[in-house]
Amino acid sequence: MATKYQSVNGMHDTLPADMPKWRFVEQAAISLFENFGFSEIRTPIVEHTELFVRSVGEKNQVVEKEMYSFEDQGEKRLSLRPEATACVVRAYIEASLYNDQPLAKLYTIGPMFRRERPQKGRYRQFHQISVEVIGSDNPAMDAELMAMCDSYFKKIGITHLRLEINSVGRGKSRENYLLLLTAFLGKQSASLCTECQSRMIKNPMRVLDCKNPDCQKVYEAAPFMADHLSLEDAAHYARVKEHLDLLGIDYVENKKIVRGLDYYVNTAFEFVSDQLGTQGAVAAGGRYDGLVKSLGGPDLPGIGFAIGLDRVVLLANDSVLTRSSPPVFFALLGDESRRKFIPLIHKLRLMGAFLEWDNDNRSLKSQMRRADKLNARWVIIAGEEELKKGVVVLREMRSKEQRELKEGELESFVRGAI
Ligand code: HAM
Repeated sequence: MATKYQSVNGMHDTLPADMPKWRFVEQAAISLFENFGFSEIRTPIVEHTELFVRSVGEKNQVVEKEMYSFEDQGEKRLSLRPEATACVVRAYIEASLYNDQPLAKLYTIGPMFRRERPQKGRYRQFHQISVEVIGSDNPAMDAELMAMCDSYFKKIGITHLRLEINSVGRGKSRENYLLLLTAFLGKQSASLCTECQSRMIKNPMRVLDCKNPDCQKVYEAAPFMADHLSLEDAAHYARVKEHLDLLGIDYVENKKIVRGLDYYVNTAFEFVSDQLGTQGAVAAGGRYDGLVKSLGGPDLPGIGFAIGLDRVVLLANDSVLTRSSPPVFFALLGDESRRKFIPLIHKLRLMGAFLEWDNDNRSLKSQMRRADKLNARWVIIAGEEELKKGVVVLREMRSKEQRELKEGELESFVRGAI
């Protein structure tokens, strides 16, 4: 027997039954973001590995352990993108989009790849809508992005998320803080998990992210960046909160938010669900002033976030998101009937009607079963006897009532039913 292949661990098919939900959550985001003045950009899935080393961070776990990287026929080292921000910024610089407008508001949608340990809500191919604003350091922009993300979740009926915000500082005050944190961790290292012991050397702020409850107990007493900001950064953070209040957006401050990618400065935020176990972040982002410059562009500030669509789909309510049903199903019986009605079905479909018929010439009973499964509202039955009389039988599936309809009335009936 031929080998049966399975999809790669952590990478999934999206089957037809799930597509309406995916389309719904994607299209709701697209229409909302366009209303907020964002334009779509698409970039390749494969980029030079170096792009992520420089942006996400050389010692970052995503770059060190989770990227799918390969040599391109012994030439350049390439990687499947683990995230979209670096790609959008690369494209922005490559196309000199800063010459078009002082402020770029972009979004992109598509698959990302990280070789993480798969579990519910965490996959190796996952899907994001990533939103990026390049050219504004105004705290009002930080708040507006969070408000837009908040509106998105409300629009699609996910109302239980908690917006958590923090400031991860920058520059000299970050350096000073890291000294404080490292000193604290040095004293506590015996009580920390092995992962934290390794992180405290490579990327000390990331320890605060650890899911281990014993480590979390230790970190209750840790120094936090938000308490050690420079005056300028503290003022920025205060104004972000002021603007959130102005927009009526609820949030909680969480001094332990550190974010998993190295380019963040100042504002960091996450929309968190308690219904997804340890993978609770449904959207996350923050400021990345400095990233555009470090990738060879002008010195422009940036801020953005990405929504994890796989997690959104897990949370989205099933009942409103099933595939819609064809209002009319044609049960055509015999060659003559098909010859007569297939052109009409084709014409009505071209006019935008959602119609179904059975291409396999099956019995009336099995065609009715299919119509029922598709949840069709009306079935048009056209067999030899009806053709002789110049009529079709119209059956309302819910009430099971039937009546005859003259062939000449059929087209206008279908147009009225759709
Ligand atoms: P991130 O926090 O790495 O940020 O990912 C954003 C969101 O993508 C997460 O909150 C989560 O919902 C989803 N996500 C991440 N990894 C996985 C996974 N393995 N499986 C399923 N979902 C996942 C970024 O990627 C930044 N580029 C966001 C950003 C845009 N910051 C500024 N602009």
